[in-house]
Amino acid sequence: MAHHSDSVFSQIAKAPEDPILGVTVAFNKDSDTSKLNLGVGAYRTEEGKPLVLNVVKQAEQKLVNNPSRIKEYLPIVGLADFNKGSAKLIFGADSPAIQENRVTTVQCLSGTGSLRVGGEFLARHYHEKTIYIPNPTWGNHPKIFTFAGLSVKTYRYYDPTTRGLDFKGLLEDLGNAPSGAIVLLHACAHNPTGVDPTIQQWEEIRQLIRSKALLPFFDSAYQGFASGSLDADAKPVRLFVADGGECFTAQSFAKNMGLYAERVGALSIVCKTSDVASRVESQLKLVIRPMYSSPPLHGASIVSTILNDSDLYNEWTLELKAMADRIISMRTQLLETLKAKGTPGDWTHIIKQIGMFTFTGLNAEQVAFMTKEYHIYMTSDGRISMAGLSSKTIPHLADAMHAAVTTMA
Ligand SMILES: Cc1ncc(COP(=O)(O)O)c(C=O)c1O
Repeated sequence: MAHHSDSVFSQIAKAPEDPILGVTVAFNKDSDTSKLNLGVGAYRTEEGKPLVLNVVKQAEQKLVNNPSRIKEYLPIVGLADFNKGSAKLIFGADSPAIQENRVTTVQCLSGTGSLRVGGEFLARHYHEKTIYIPNPTWGNHPKIFTFAGLSVKTYRYYDPTTRGLDFKGLLEDLGNAPSGAIVLLHACAHNPTGVDPTIQQWEEIRQLIRSKALLPFFDSAYQGFASGSLDADAKPVRLFVADGGECFTAQSFAKNMGLYAERVGALSIVCKTSDVASRVESQLKLVIRPMYSSPPLHGASIVSTILNDSDLYNEWTLELKAMADRIISMRTQLLETLKAKGTPGDWTHIIKQIGMFTFTGLNAEQVAFMTKEYHIYMTSDGRISMAGLSSKTIPHLADAMHAAVTTMA
């Protein structure tokens, strides 16, 4: 008879919950009716419900109605029309790099998979194995790149005293990086801080990166979600592509099309020549094939249908803008509510920061207090998802923040 202790895994340690996804696990266990989950990086409507975009429903209907659709394997690099559309979306329809065939785009498993495939390609084929990531950054970045085989270092990014960009620190750290080092940049809506460089600052960053022959690797998880404009949010990436230099871009359609669970994304590598791009692509296939063989069809078909149909595309831009606008309006409402309550401190960073998150500046103890006393859930770094708020829940959050700040200064 086999006993529990006979398992070959009986010595295995229980792993901790993921710091971000664990917030939802804790939230689900709370039975209080006023509970509020601001940990999750997913859009919610004013009613607090997940949103399936209308254009996504229409695209899916079109796909279902098409009798010629088949379920054969996709090529290793994914759906060709999806890849073309994704590259145009981030680099611009008139991008010379695309016209000159210098871009290779491969469909990957959302943003995470795109970062991972790009990281592993670099670990195998690039001479410099160090990647610099901002401090702080999305918690998955260091793990993705470490497991891809790169060595991870950080550069200064956020200044807690101003709750804004530490531009001087950023330039110093990248200036001291070894020539050729890889630099991870959030294309827009930096996670978790919501702090982005201005376009002038981006231009200075670009000059520094090019002058030191550093290799830019953009993580674009929020295109359109920051400002509400797909083109405005792509500007930093396009600035780098316009100079003719090389760069990597990992795109996710999780947020901007609300396709979280479909795992649809793309890795694009802009090269100096089309010949290099085609050789790079041949090696990307060797990274992907033993990892998951080929990517899934459904999500990429949805995105491709929307990107390649002008009516659906236009409707998408409106739905996207509505999501971005709702988030921006949550920022103003939260700031106004705190002001009206006379909550001590300067909270204007709430409206200066951009994208899905506000980096409140609340410390881990204040966060724990708000969870215990007010049933509000967020990551311990004080990051709140603005997309998880509504006009109805803002007063509750403001009460909790006020109490946290006044009782635990
Ligand atoms: C900065 C950043 N990069 C990448 C991702 C990847 O998300 P996904 O793999 O769901 O596309 C996220 C999601 O939260 C993110 O915030």
